[in-house]
Amino acid sequence: MYDETLRSQKTLIRCEDGSHTLFSQEFDEPYHSTKDGALHESLEKHVKPALALSQEKQKLTILDICFGLGYNTFATLYIIKKLNLSTKVHILSPEFDEGLVRSLDTFDFPSQFDSIKHIIYAISKNLYYEDEQFKIEILLGDARKSIPTLQEKIDIIYQDAFSPAHNPMLWTREWFSDIRAKCHDDAILTTYSTAAAIRLGLYENGFFIFVHRAEMMRYSTVASLKMLAGLEYIDMELKKIRNVEARSMRDGEYIQK
Ligand SMILES: C[S@@+](CC[C@H](N)C(=O)[O-])C[C@H]1O[C@@H](n2cnc3c(N)ncnc32)[C@H](O)[C@@H]1O
Repeated sequence: MYDETLRSQKTLIRCEDGSHTLFSQEFDEPYHSTKDGALHESLEKHVKPALALSQEKQKLTILDICFGLGYNTFATLYIIKKLNLSTKVHILSPEFDEGLVRSLDTFDFPSQFDSIKHIIYAISKNLYYEDEQFKIEILLGDARKSIPTLQEKIDIIYQDAFSPAHNPMLWTREWFSDIRAKCHDDAILTTYSTAAAIRLGLYENGFFIFVHRAEMMRYSTVASLKMLAGLEYIDMELKKIRNVEARSMRDGEYIQK
């Protein structure tokens, strides 16, 4: 299904916001939108909307799908430190590319991550970090296997896998069902995907769907298990009437490209 022989083949790319990402030969895709920028995309599509919508919580458990270069995890710590928030954060992040995580201590991250270099170093060495405020665990192996075994209840999901066309296993209705089963009833999910099939997969698992807009960024999706005020709501029943062909992605229907 996945071509492990290509896993180590990656090329460094500089994004338009100046931050660096990689191009994966295995998935034939960059890890981030080079136009939106690795750091900018992480902050604007995932971290800022998710934290803003969860600001009343003192403790957050976050599922970062998947770890990759760790931008979403590191940007979360960066923003919490920058805003001097006391929120306790536990991040769980599946990743099957151990070599990539272990290489991150030498990756050319943006200067915004300078204050958390010791955390990046610890994760690359131990795949784990813990202090009084933050706990980060890399769940080494296939996310389809690790998610159903989680004991924790999740507040936030960063759904940031390679695209549905290139990594369909992490976008199906069954995948979102596994995630839903681990969520608190007010969980928030952020994703760059705005595709009808992906929104339907979330909707069929009880998520309300919203458009998220940020400056200098293509719009993205916020999904929530409770109705949210102040966001642009998408009526998925209406979408289904207007687009009768639209269908969620399903396990077993895709061969990994
Ligand atoms: C688009 S990248 C994630 C980018 C990441 N959020 C970041 O900020 O760098 C997708 C990651 O998913 C990992 N991956 C793909 N399929 C997986 C699976 N079934 N289980 C675990 N990791 C997987 C890939 O190795 C890759 O690192």
